[in-house]
Amino acid sequence: MISEKLMKELNDQMNFEFLSSYYYLAMAAYAASEDLNGFANFFIIQGQEEYLHGMKFFNFIHDMDGRAFMQAIEEPNNEYESLVQVFEKALTHERLVTSRINKLMDMAKEEGNHAAVSFLQWFIDEQVEEENSMKTILNNLKKMDGNFQGIYIMDKELAGRVLEPIQ
Ligand code: FEO
Repeated sequence: MISEKLMKELNDQMNFEFLSSYYYLAMAAYAASEDLNGFANFFIIQGQEEYLHGMKFFNFIHDMDGRAFMQAIEEPNNEYESLVQVFEKALTHERLVTSRINKLMDMAKEEGNHAAVSFLQWFIDEQVEEENSMKTILNNLKKMDGNFQGIYIMDKELAGRVLEPIQ
């Protein structure tokens, strides 16, 4: 049995993951408009991952005898000044996701809901990777300080990112 309160928070987080997918698509569009197709690919894949995260919540909610409710998706930021700014916003966003997941985990533990704790543990681990990936790219971009050769090489590397299946 899962409380109404926890179910609502799980549903909100499902919607937040779908919102994240949309945010990253806007970042992909910015990169593509700058002819940085590798960076665009990175964010397209990131957006697809976020969709899969949302679907993990969707499936869990239904496995727990709940019902997923889709909410309105707000307009993401479409204007960026630089790649550094894009990754600063991406890192800030991932930190927000981490704090939301931590809050959900606290709630699941308080309710003694072991199934939710087990489910959320995957996201706790995933967030370490998500934050780290944004932070690494941001730090490298800052070190390059606009050097086009460095950005060009990174763009080629990020073009190779593919969508990994998630369990
Ligand atoms: Fe699903 Fe990037 O958090």
